Amino acid sequence: MYNKRILTIAHRGAAGDAPENTLAAFRLGLEQGCDAIELDVHLSKDGEIVVCHDHTINRTSDRSGAICELTVDELKQADAGSWFHERYEGEQIPLLEEVFELVPPDVMINIEIKDSRGRKLEPVLIELMKRNNRIENVVVSSFDHKSLVFLKLLEEEVKLGLLYDCNPVRHSLMAATAEVPIYSLHPNFKRLGNEDVRDVIEQGLQVYPYTINDEDLMANAINYGVSGIITDYPGRLKRLLDQIAA
Ligand code: G3P
Ligand code: MG
Repeated sequence: MYNKRILTIAHRGAAGDAPENTLAAFRLGLEQGCDAIELDVHLSKDGEIVVCHDHTINRTSDRSGAICELTVDELKQADAGSWFHERYEGEQIPLLEEVFELVPPDVMINIEIKDSRGRKLEPVLIELMKRNNRIENVVVSSFDHKSLVFLKLLEEEVKLGLLYDCNPVRHSLMAATAEVPIYSLHPNFKRLGNEDVRDVIEQGLQVYPYTINDEDLMANAINYGVSGIITDYPGRLKRLLDQIAA
């Protein structure tokens, strides 16, 4: 049984049912009732923050090339929907600012920095978040923990999410919090352990494991006491939470 609000976090949008990291996927996540959206960011050749998982657009569009070598104009010519399904033909690679415009301010956004291009992305990101009033309800995460430290130096109020895929939780947590306070832990769900999670929750940190799509695994994570779950199927998680609450 769970007795607290567990966030449904739509991974790359509702990536199980729509082309990942597109406005269509974010819209669908919102329609399915998600509380938060996770997305991945890179810097374009002309210094804009664009939303895409890989460092190239090869897998998720009809064009090819590294994002850091393409301008926004060039990126916008790519069809980022057809590879998933023909009904998404014409879907574009979004700018982060377009996602800020789409997503209501009460829906949390988890921005995952994939490649900061030698620390060039962080100042642009902080500036963009401030300009769009998105310091409050955004968590910035990364496997690159030094990037998180840099963000905190740039803006003290920024909420940081520690992404990791190693064991045990305790070591990562100690290493990170020694340098800078973090808001949430984002472990690979395979690294979830009862004791570790309880420890960090007691310290007041949120725990958002990624990426759980199977119902039984979702139920396990809920029993562990996580604060939210990152999933490609937000509708599925919502239904499960509703069933448990009923
Ligand atoms: O932020 C959680 C998760 O998205 C990390 O892995 O590869 O799906 O970006 P990945
Ligand atoms: Mg991600």
